[in-house]
Amino acid sequence: MSADLDVEPTDQPFEAPVACTVAQDVYHFDLLIEDMERLWGDKWGDLSFADAVEYFAQPEAKSLKLIAVAVSHREEAEIGMVGEIIRRAKSRGIRVLLVASDVSPAMLHQFLKLGADDFVPYPLPDGALKEAVARVMQAPQNTTEGTMQTLSAARGLAKPMGGEGSVFAVHGLAGGVGGTSFAVNLAWEMATIDASLKDAIAPKVCVIDLDLQFGNVATLLDLPRRDIIVEILSDLQSMDSDALRQAMLTYRDKLSVFTAPSDILPLDMIGPDDLRALISLARKNFDLVVIDLPAALTGWSDTILNEVDIYFAILELEMRSAQNALRFARALRSEGLPIDRVKFILNRAPGLTDINGKSRIKRLADSLDVSIKTLLPDGGKQVSAACDQGEPLAISARKNPLRREIQKIATSLHAGLAQTASAA
Ligand SMILES: Nc1ncnc2c1ncn2[C@@H]1O[C@H](COP(=O)(O)OP(=O)(O)O)[C@@H](O)[C@H]1O
Ligand SMILES: [Mg+2]
Repeated sequence: MSADLDVEPTDQPFEAPVACTVAQDVYHFDLLIEDMERLWGDKWGDLSFADAVEYFAQPEAKSLKLIAVAVSHREEAEIGMVGEIIRRAKSRGIRVLLVASDVSPAMLHQFLKLGADDFVPYPLPDGALKEAVARVMQAPQNTTEGTMQTLSAARGLAKPMGGEGSVFAVHGLAGGVGGTSFAVNLAWEMATIDASLKDAIAPKVCVIDLDLQFGNVATLLDLPRRDIIVEILSDLQSMDSDALRQAMLTYRDKLSVFTAPSDILPLDMIGPDDLRALISLARKNFDLVVIDLPAALTGWSDTILNEVDIYFAILELEMRSAQNALRFARALRSEGLPIDRVKFILNRAPGLTDINGKSRIKRLADSLDVSIKTLLPDGGKQVSAACDQGEPLAISARKNPLRREIQKIATSLHAGLAQTASAA
């Protein structure tokens, strides 16, 4: 049952609980009771807010590994007390999981700031408690402010050495042209650059999936989508570094990922100010931020263009891409947006030996009045196989021609970043 959890139910009779719910009235959370029962049998207990602090100080509390603090809008007034409970628990090395029912995003944010290790929404989705418990128990222990910082550093969220990080956006100009594949693989190559370059230090990289509707960065990296994302997106402007850390998942210890939400959301759920807040926070915490954009233009597309260092526009040598690229370039020019920040990348490009292909590329570039210098080859079936497997090409198909090309781009971008950093 709980074989994959750190906390094993013990067999001793009258054993003090290894886990407890802490709630004003636990009977408002009957699904939580069911799930606790399922995870720990009779090795869990329930504490009221008033009893919790006192209990932690008693000898029986030694066996306590985790508390699930259940809060709802009814407890918003008790935030001081909840804070005290969390603080005391943490100082005794007890992990804290917040179970939040109908709490406003701002309040949730407050609760998380108090130091809870993680959060699950209530009513609990199937299996959510078990997953969250496993996650919380595996995370390194963080009992004080100091270790809190070590933890963020270990997860790749310390402030980058050179101050602000760089931001790249990736926009597939038509569906399926390979935007997300490029974004994810580029991010991975950058994050692991020390493996391929002597004396180079891999930058701290994160990927942010802003395709709020059909974003599939999570799929490409075989990561789960977390319910917390919706809450975070609905209140980006009050997010701080800790909340950003809570929201992100780490892929193979090297790449931090802010996934798209599990449900389809309207693209205008976020606005320009939210975007600016998110980008500025991400810049402070990472050396490189890669943002995967939806194909559609949104109310915040121009914000992205104004905020990023490089805007990669991915297209293919076909009619849809050509027409969309034309409209895109026209829109940018008519609104006076910085088109020089846009780097067009032709995916599934014909090989250099294809004379006819070369002249078609030239005609496309001429019609857009831009240059298209970066070409990515067709990587064949290995590319979608890697995607289905949830692995970057560097892991599942190292020698793939698409991978090699993206690796080259990463190497030259990294050299550029290093230069900017040393010049600064
Ligand atoms: N250069 C390439 N060679 C082969 N397959 C590719 C290439 N680029 C993308 N693909 C595949 O095309 C499909 C769509 O790619 P995706 O990155 O999801 O596009 P987008 O994000 O622009 O919609 C995926 O199955 C991906 O594996
Ligand atoms: Mg995509």
